[in-house]
Amino acid sequence: MTRATRAVINWANLRHNYQLARQHSAGKALAVVKADGYGHGLENCARALGDADGFAVACVDEAVRLREAGIKRSILVLQGAYNREEWLIASQLGLQLVVHHEQQLQHAEAENLPNLVPVWLKINTGMNRVGVFPEQAKACVERIQQHSQLQLVSVMTHFANADTGQPEDVAAPMALLQQVADELPGIQLSACNSAAILGDNGLADDISRPGIMLYGSSPMLQQSAAELGLKSVMNLQSEVISIHAVKQGDAVGYGGDWVAQRDTTLAVVAIGYGDGYPRHAPSGTPVMVAGVECPLAGRVSMDMITVDITDHPQCEQLQVGAEVQLWGDQLDVDRIASAAGTIAYELFCQLTPRVKRVACE
Ligand SMILES: Cc1ncc(COP(=O)(O)O)c(C=O)c1O
Repeated sequence: MTRATRAVINWANLRHNYQLARQHSAGKALAVVKADGYGHGLENCARALGDADGFAVACVDEAVRLREAGIKRSILVLQGAYNREEWLIASQLGLQLVVHHEQQLQHAEAENLPNLVPVWLKINTGMNRVGVFPEQAKACVERIQQHSQLQLVSVMTHFANADTGQPEDVAAPMALLQQVADELPGIQLSACNSAAILGDNGLADDISRPGIMLYGSSPMLQQSAAELGLKSVMNLQSEVISIHAVKQGDAVGYGGDWVAQRDTTLAVVAIGYGDGYPRHAPSGTPVMVAGVECPLAGRVSMDMITVDITDHPQCEQLQVGAEVQLWGDQLDVDRIASAAGTIAYELFCQLTPRVKRVACE
């Protein structure tokens, strides 16, 4: 591999974060590896978390990839089957499916399923995105129970506001889920995402579903990843490909909206929005150049960014090839996300295929 721009993945830290999720969970924990393992690589994440209680993905296509990679653990498909064919695939591959809409049951009823499919009924407890309303649950449960090849194993929900850390933001939806569960003796409850897990609110959750915390970003609005004991998993790194001086008053980059306020030394780094580095990162966004934080200067281009290294203590000695970290163990991804007006989820997911994912040695 020649290009230095890469995402170096620390699998030991992924495992550490999963263990933390497990410790804070009341019961089991499904590792959420949808969207290509939040950009870290679907199959490799599942392999690295080989002893997880199971995995959750968004769609059947992702689950098929895991089975093709030889992953034998339980896999929950969070959006369930989109059509009859996907019910069939799920039944053949031993997948577990969320049912969040009555029409999914119609598809199951119309299909001849070879094997029992474990079903998780999703209840809308206030997010109003997907899920049946609590008052519709009974009718859905009956239809599931009438189907000889469906087995209701869990009722679940997803919180809209767990990241506030306020107990009442999870207590009210949990109470609605509990009411549904009270009618179903022995049923398992599944509710907590990363923020609810780390909120430690004593929720009676049998199976949690940690996602973002596994990848070392804080799910909480008020606490950093380090404060929560999370370890960074991805180091996004590159190198300096040019160093040059500009004079006070010179404009830099597209649009020329960054203008040097003094004679300035600039380092050009081989990464841009063509790699998934956020184009909206403003001037001043921190970039780690040879271990020292320096400010981004000017607009992010497709393949390059420019960084002001004038105040770098080794400014005179820095050379082309100097190592750069965009986020990772030296630079919290949540700082970059907040500078760019987004969340780490998006930064991870929008990394493009041009960025090679490599395991850290
Ligand atoms: C249904 C469901 N459960 C769990 C998660 C994991 O959430 P987080 O990444 O915030 O932990 C997601 C993510 O969007 C989800 O959609």
